Amino acid sequence: MKTAALVAPFFADNTLRYLRALAELPGVRPAVLSQDPFEKLPADLQRRLDVVRVPDCLSGPDLAAGCRKLQQHFGRLDVLMGALEQLQLPMAQARELAGVPGMGVRVAGNFRDKAQMKDVLRAAGLPVARHALIESDAAAIDFVHHVGLPIILKPVDGLGSRGTFRVSDEADLRSALRALRPSMDRPAQAEEFVVGSEQTFETVTIGGKPVWHSGTYYLNRPLEVIENPWMQYCVLLPREANLPEFEAFRPVNTAALAALGMETGLSHMEWFRRQDGSHVISEVGARPPGVQIMPLNSLGHETDMVGRWVRLMALGEWQPVTRKHAVGVAFFRGQGRGRRVVAVHGLEQAQRAAGKLVVDRKLPVVGQPKADGYEGEGWAIVQADDTATVKEALRQLVTSVQVELG
Ligand SMILES: Nc1ncnc2c1ncn2[C@@H]1O[C@H](COP(=O)(O)OP(=O)(O)O)[C@@H](O)[C@H]1O
Ligand SMILES: [Mg+2]
Repeated sequence: MKTAALVAPFFADNTLRYLRALAELPGVRPAVLSQDPFEKLPADLQRRLDVVRVPDCLSGPDLAAGCRKLQQHFGRLDVLMGALEQLQLPMAQARELAGVPGMGVRVAGNFRDKAQMKDVLRAAGLPVARHALIESDAAAIDFVHHVGLPIILKPVDGLGSRGTFRVSDEADLRSALRALRPSMDRPAQAEEFVVGSEQTFETVTIGGKPVWHSGTYYLNRPLEVIENPWMQYCVLLPREANLPEFEAFRPVNTAALAALGMETGLSHMEWFRRQDGSHVISEVGARPPGVQIMPLNSLGHETDMVGRWVRLMALGEWQPVTRKHAVGVAFFRGQGRGRRVVAVHGLEQAQRAAGKLVVDRKLPVVGQPKADGYEGEGWAIVQADDTATVKEALRQLVTSVQVELG
């Protein structure tokens, strides 16, 4: 019997899906490390999970103390897992401190620190944007002299495009530097600006060997979406599991994961494809993808990706799976200056145009606070037997639905 603990900082709905999957997994003694009190856990899970309360799930030593309690209780702890990006480094610290097998600090740092990631990838001969760690305004100006404009400036540990700046001229450079204030203690990441389409590549790796992959298209690049309030963001999982574009990139992905030190888990890579077909790796997370790519894959393969990920992490197992549908998600982002949703327009038109293909949705509601990322205030997932139909449905959805802020 294996013992496995999942880090769930709070018992939010999405987190409960992961906990339920762990609780239901045969052959595993399940536990959870959380900041939330035991009483907040739904009754069925209270009975099935050992819960250790941790003051701060983002603290490696706190998580390590939680692991030690479980080691005393179970006699051992085989697995410590967590889906959120911000947990990856503290979990790695905790594994090292408490002697739990799995990804350590060096490898977690390769995934979490964008500068370190690019250094490792470049050293392995893999294509990444020219970049530099920026510790002063002067260093940023120097980088521009070497690489030319435009460039990207962003935090080294960014998330959801927050704090990512496209710098096209001197005025942009000044305002980006004012916002990021790069220093020795808090350096920023500067990169040459890559022109091209943006895709993802999800990979299941077991013992260092890739055993499954899948890729999605970002329709509109996250940064452009952030820059243009009227633009909406969609993610498309094509019907065909092995499109030439993704197959051509596959060896690059495999080599990158090997260079970074991926052992067992699900990874989420973002990559660019230039007009001439050449590739640039953007970034990789050693965790399940966000932006609804988990549900897209669940629907596209008629499976439960959350359950699969939990099984993969806890037992190192993955069953083959076949793509059955094309699936896509349209995110509805509020427009206007306000802090709250005051109206949602075009729902009837959207319903007429694409309603039949909608398989899941969370529509924005009036009164809801403005969201701060490109995922917006709501979304709809569409599914069909071919990619073109899904793409057209996504277009219909984002052109008809308008979320008004006020
Ligand atoms: N070097 C680059 N060239 C062009 N666009 C970039 C570059 N780096 C980042 N971006 C854009 O900014 C977005 C956010 O950057 P990313 O490195 O993915 O950070 P985050 O961790 O916030 O997702 C990307 O999805 C992409 O659209
Ligand atoms: Mg990203």
